[in-house]
Amino acid sequence: MSTTTRTVTTTPPASPPPPLFYPGEQRYPPSSSFEKRLNEIIGKREWMILFITETFSPWPGGVVRKYTLRARKENGLVETLATWQVSPFPGCCGILVETQIQVLEAMKKKGLGGLIHEMNMEYAKGWNYTVLLGSDLLSNEPTQRIISSSKGEKVYEFVNSKTLRRVGVYVWKLKEVAEKKPEGAA
Ligand SMILES: CC(C)(COP(=O)(O)OP(=O)(O)OC[C@H]1O[C@@H](n2cnc3c(N)ncnc32)[C@H](O)[C@@H]1OP(=O)(O)O)[C@@H](O)C(=O)NCCC(=O)NCCS
Repeated sequence: MSTTTRTVTTTPPASPPPPLFYPGEQRYPPSSSFEKRLNEIIGKREWMILFITETFSPWPGGVVRKYTLRARKENGLVETLATWQVSPFPGCCGILVETQIQVLEAMKKKGLGGLIHEMNMEYAKGWNYTVLLGSDLLSNEPTQRIISSSKGEKVYEFVNSKTLRRVGVYVWKLKEVAEKKPEGAA
């Protein structure tokens, strides 16, 4: 009687692809026009905007929001395409501060930075902020272009004593509203 030995090789089960989001993160569905533009920039792959919040103040919309735009790569892994943050201004519920827009090197110059700024303006208007505030190095050409094309107004320019770099402070006037008259005024 002959005995044959057969070697059975089993491939380990494929591990599930990493998730696009984690517990504690909330989904930010952009409005349909932004979604369309993001699809054009990112291409035909799964993507999602997530944010986490930090309570800042009890007024509606008075939270710091830290955003992440993630997309799935062809190999199933996940990459962060951009991050940014909006924060209520301490002490004035009319001002929202836009900071730390960062776009992945490979995604730069495709319109993503400008689009994120536009989404921040839409978000600020949605929460009834009156002014969006930002600052940046005057030498930062991409942001300077985003500021001028979105009609940001430079309100001050200075040399930062900590970094010795020239900085501009910008505002975007989101709405003009009539002042509340004191009681009894004509
Ligand atoms: C600033 C930054 C977010 C812009 O992102 P982006 O996705 O490349 O921006 P966009 O593609 O929307 O480009 C905006 C404008 O800058 C121009 N631009 C982009 N990169 C440029 C560069 N390296 N040099 C000159 N102009 C540039 C674009 O042509 C566009 O101009 P246009 O509207 O007149 O055509 C990105 O460069 C970045 O992450 N920089 C490092 C972090 C940083 O400096 N953040 C800003 C501080 S909040």
